[in-house]
Amino acid sequence: MSGFAESITVEDLERDPYPIYEQLREESPVAFVPAINSWLATRWEDVQIVSNKPEIFSAEDDNAPVVRHFGSPAIIHTDGAVHKELRKGLAAHYMPGKVASYIDGLARPIAKQHIERLRNNGQAELMSEYFEPVSVLCLAKTLGLGDVGSEVLMEWFHGLAMGAINFAQDPERTKQCDETKVQIEAALDPLLTRLEQEGDGSPLSHLLHHSMPEGEVRSRDFILPSVYVTLLGGMQEPGHGGANTLFGLLHNPEQLGALMNDPKTWVPKAVQEGVRWIAPIGTQGRSPIEDFEMAGVVVPKGASISSVLASANRDTAVFEKPDDFDMTRKQSTVASFGFGPHFCAGKWFANAQMEIMLEVLFEMLGDIEMVEGSPPEFFGWEFRAPTSFKVRFKAK
Ligand code: HEM
Repeated sequence: MSGFAESITVEDLERDPYPIYEQLREESPVAFVPAINSWLATRWEDVQIVSNKPEIFSAEDDNAPVVRHFGSPAIIHTDGAVHKELRKGLAAHYMPGKVASYIDGLARPIAKQHIERLRNNGQAELMSEYFEPVSVLCLAKTLGLGDVGSEVLMEWFHGLAMGAINFAQDPERTKQCDETKVQIEAALDPLLTRLEQEGDGSPLSHLLHHSMPEGEVRSRDFILPSVYVTLLGGMQEPGHGGANTLFGLLHNPEQLGALMNDPKTWVPKAVQEGVRWIAPIGTQGRSPIEDFEMAGVVVPKGASISSVLASANRDTAVFEKPDDFDMTRKQSTVASFGFGPHFCAGKWFANAQMEIMLEVLFEMLGDIEMVEGSPPEFFGWEFRAPTSFKVRFKAK
């Protein structure tokens, strides 16, 4: 076992995982990390193997924090027929053609309304005042939860995230997640009761009804773990990806200038680069169904292994100067939305939403700059984004 991997702590990873990934890629690209009771595969080529070979690397893993906290079957930790059933239920509303038909009418007014509220203040904390509320409201509206306020929705994803990142089984994180699930279930109850009686074509309705015999619906026990997964990733990540992208742009004024001159060309490229540079979701969790040798080590049957997307995105075998934010880079494939059967079902929805968030921000505010003395502080390895993002600007 690598001495370095043994010395890694959860706190180190949460503070800044990138130097750790760099050392792992060089010294022990597939390594067991005791602090998280999981193997980490950190090179692009090993990430491809773990994520793209479901016949060897099962997504089922009872040890995964998401399974321990959200229950089973949770879509990202299912294989085969159960996975197909859940994915078919959730994904239809977020396919590219469908997203194109509604995203502008959904996301742009929400984004504009939030900038309108802060544009005359000259400064703002963009995580809590813009990126997170816009992100949670967009997803909630698609799920029929548009009446729940953004403050409550933000509490939901923060609480759910405490479960999903709880590799070290911290009781305080468990408590926060459990309390959040109780709140969510209470809020979902009337909606699910109505949808169980009569479907309406929404993602939750589709999840309950699709491919079921006439008069039957799927049970709440069956769908709820995957609803929690979707609420967490779907509400949290576009806001985080948007913020990570803005951070890259504000650090690179030349690129920001080019983007302001031609947003149509550069906003989508900046977003792809933003989520590559700092991946909002760090890993895909898997477990080999038999002992599997890779990168000179044997990952034992039944062990937990994380395919580290955030690290693959910084692999010099694929990306030149990977630690730089560079929206002009030619490599178009990034690892951030995952690979294989579980690649992100909300990728197109998320990309369109992040693009709209940035377009609106730059249309309505000028001279945006970070506040001197309080730079954005990033946290997390499973989920990574600024905890706060203070900026000054002029209203346009
Ligand atoms: C920047 C934003 C986002 C990023 C970076 C992201 C990334 C990912 C990744 C890496 C996975 C694979 C997880 C795994 O295999 O363990 C995933 C799965 C998933 N994502 Fe996203 N996601 C984003 C936004 C969204 C949104 C907005 C939705 C809402 C519709 C969503 C819905 C899902 C679902 C349902 C899955 C499970 C897919 C499956 O297991 O088949 N995601 N996402």
